Amino acid sequence: MERDARYLTWGGCDAVELAGKYGTPAYIMDEGVIEDRIEQYLSVAGQVYPDLRVAYAGKAFLCGMLVQLLEAKGLWLDVVSGGELHLALAAGFDARRVFFHGNNKSQAEIAYGLESGVGRFVVDNLAELSRLSSQASSRGLPQDVLLRVTPGISPRTHRAVQTGQVDSKFGLPVTGGAALAAAKAAIAAPGIRLRGVHLHIGSQISEVHPFRTAARAAAQLAWEIWRETGYLPEEVNVGGGWAAGLLPGQPLDTIGAYVAAVARSFKAAWRRCGVPGVPLGPADPAVTGAGGRSLPSGSGRYAWPTLYIEPGRSIVAEAGITLYTVGAVKPVPGFDAYVLVDGGMNDNPRPALYGARYHAVLADRPAEPGERTYTLVGKACESGDVLIRELPLPGPAPGDIVAVFATGAYNHSMASNYNRLERPPVVFVRNGESRLAVRRETYADMLLTDMAVKRG
Ligand code: LLP
Repeated sequence: MERDARYLTWGGCDAVELAGKYGTPAYIMDEGVIEDRIEQYLSVAGQVYPDLRVAYAGKAFLCGMLVQLLEAKGLWLDVVSGGELHLALAAGFDARRVFFHGNNKSQAEIAYGLESGVGRFVVDNLAELSRLSSQASSRGLPQDVLLRVTPGISPRTHRAVQTGQVDSKFGLPVTGGAALAAAKAAIAAPGIRLRGVHLHIGSQISEVHPFRTAARAAAQLAWEIWRETGYLPEEVNVGGGWAAGLLPGQPLDTIGAYVAAVARSFKAAWRRCGVPGVPLGPADPAVTGAGGRSLPSGSGRYAWPTLYIEPGRSIVAEAGITLYTVGAVKPVPGFDAYVLVDGGMNDNPRPALYGARYHAVLADRPAEPGERTYTLVGKACESGDVLIRELPLPGPAPGDIVAVFATGAYNHSMASNYNRLERPPVVFVRNGESRLAVRRETYADMLLTDMAVKRG
């Protein structure tokens, strides 16, 4: 059938046809958008700092096909559990470019990370340091680690995703000296090789200035470690957290502007600290090459630490849409009518958890103005299962396909089986071609771990 050119397309594919082919609900990810965001990070990284590396935060969205794309691009990868590490390794990611995060890694996770040869453990606390040290020294291979610190910064974002404040469950506070003391402990610990520090101030942050403050704090702490111990950190990871545009018309600085601002602040602070080997003048090492690889006297290490940045959401969120089918439209006199779709908080818990706002259209008439507003709700058994309120739509009816935008991050990775609903498939699209990246869960899948019932 000839499709109307005004239908919504994603990655060059007709969204209504995708719904027919893969069923609904379904996550559709445009590989071209993911690649574009990766390129934005990589291209600016090479311009603004002598050695700036990009690590993708897998918690935002991970599947085998994405892992393979990240591997092909040479990115680093942040994993936060044995499960994420397992997927990365199973899909062929090089363990040496993995950061192993987590504020409460189990002994088994530590063992798995060490056995797999992960490049860096990001140590969250002293108990973990001691567990890692004893496991690593009994293996006889020194493990590279970064120390997770909290710089005392509370960026403007939802409270649940602020992580840089002093009162945080993550890392060791800089204020009061806990971070410095832990660095000394890490330097002394057998089996461990301290490579530097890590911080991450939060997520969905759309202002640059808290990242600047964080970069300065990281430089200052690294310098203090050097002053106090004689060890100059070789690596500084300033985390992720740059926002994605979830709603149309929300102005957002470019990825390039954000990365450049972070790098510039770090460089300026590092120079101000007066680390030996770093030129104090205005010369920009990224432009002149001066100082980029010069060594601090006698230490044998680079004067400019390697800088890592760890974006998740800003790489994948805008690449994704979720397709749903309308089952019914239910008018309620005096209120917006409910539009009932076949997914909901199971596949996108973010509106319920954080009050996150999304935008949606009807896939066969995306440009048609809404004649009035509706409440888009899912099929989970609770009234909190609201995806979008006050959504203008042009006369939705049963059978219509709804496309919700910017669902590429923290949707699939946070999906649940509440009410025994099957988790949706992930479809990768590009240049008019589609391929199944993750198939839809089945009832049989959901029985696999239940010991009392027949499987299959
Ligand atoms: N690095 C670390 C250590 C992190 O903890 C995170 C996110 C990131 C990087 C990546 O942050 P991003 O660039 O994606 O903002 N479930 C929440 C988000 C939790 C973020 C957790 N950490 C949500 O749906 O908003």
